[in-house]
This record gives sequence, structure tokens and C-alpha cells, in this order.
Amino acid sequence: MIRAPRPGEIPLLPQIENAADRRYARAGLRRVVDMPPATIASLQQGLREGRLWVAISPLNRPVGFALMKLRGGTAWLDQLSVLDCWQGRGFGATLIDRTAVAARALGFDALHLSTYLRVPWNAPFYARRGFAEVPRGEWPRTLRVQVLLENSHDHPAWRRTIMRRSLGGDG
Ligand SMILES: CC(C)(COP(=O)(O)OP(=O)(O)OC[C@H]1O[C@@H](n2cnc3c(N)ncnc32)[C@H](O)[C@@H]1OP(=O)(O)O)[C@@H](O)C(=O)NCCC(=O)NCCS
Repeated sequence: MIRAPRPGEIPLLPQIENAADRRYARAGLRRVVDMPPATIASLQQGLREGRLWVAISPLNRPVGFALMKLRGGTAWLDQLSVLDCWQGRGFGATLIDRTAVAARALGFDALHLSTYLRVPWNAPFYARRGFAEVPRGEWPRTLRVQVLLENSHDHPAWRRTIMRRSLGGDG
């Protein structure tokens, strides 16, 4: 199930992100593990503005989350994380769908994100969920700035891509 987090659950979310990111170390991307997680302030703001959702276990505990940001006229899936031991059960896909529904309700015709190429649970995972790569030459200025900002956190730029899911149809 997906719901908005309770305020008291917000501090759990950076922990979930850090734990979920450990799988990058196993894929030779240790630097992702070392990056700072979403800040409490940005998560609280996301909650206040209805842009943050958690996936919950049968015991009603958060095991994953999605944070959407609105950047320069685009809806941006800023963070998606599911705890290792809860992965592979459809929580990631359901969180994406929830985010897409919210973006469409706000009037956006697409949901964007940046991710790693050739990491099985990144670009290929999103491609199976309706996202397509946006060719570099077509990146709008806002998204170029977003990627520059992310790369300043030491992401290897050549392994990154921007993807877009159209929300015109079943978004
Ligand atoms: C990306 C992420 C959120 C996906 O979450 P999830 O809950 O595993 O997503 P789903 O269950 O919807 O889909 C997982 C896919 O892996 C497959 N899978 C099967 N067994 C699995 C397992 N033991 N562990 C993980 N994935 C498994 C699923 O079948 C599914 O495959 P499909 O794409 O062919 O349908 C999760 O892997 C994660 O938190 N990764 C670390 C953080 C990250 O990379 N975030 C995205 C940044 S851009």
C-alpha cells in the first residue's frame, strides 16, 4: 500500500534511502552510497505540499518512498528508494505510478527523472515502466541545471541520463 508519511516517519526516510543505496556498492558504484540522502527539510516540505509517499509493510511501517519535486515547469521524480529486503515486490513500480498520478493531477504532461544507464534497477527498470531516454540535445535548460547540480555530488556524468514518462495516456 502507498500513503503519505506521518510526520514522525520522516526521519526514517533518509535511513531507507541509505540502506537501499547499498546495492550500488555491489555494482561498483560506491560513490552513490557515500552521497548524502534527501534532507529532512526537503522531505518535510514534500509532505506539506503532497509530493511525498511511502510504501508500507503489512505492519504499516514505511519500507520505501518517492519524493517528487517541481522544477522550472517540470515534475521531477527526485528520489525513489525501497529497502533491500522489500525490493522486487512491486513497491517501486507502485510508487512511480502514484507519483505519475499526482503529477498529472497537477497538470503536467510528463514525469522526468535522472538515473544511471546500464544499472539494471535504474534506466532499464524505468524503461519497463514507461520512461524513455531524453536525448542530450533535447534536455531543457532546467533539466541541464538539475543534472549539473547532481553531478557536483560526484555522479559520473557519462553514466547518467534523463528519462521522461508521458502522462498523456495511462500515466
Ligand atoms: C529502484 C528501486 C526503487 C526499485 O524498487 P522495487 O520495489 O524493487 O521495484 P519493483 O518491485 O517494482 O521492480 C523491481 C524489479 O526487479 C525484479 N526483482 C526480482 N527479484 C528481485 C529482488 N530480489 N530484488 C530486487 N529486484 C528484484 C522485479 O521482478 C522487477 O523487475 P521488472 O522491472 O522486470 O518488473 C529499488 O531497487 C531501490 O531502492 N534501489 C536503490 C535506489 C535506487 O536505485 N533508486 C532509483 C534511483 S534513480
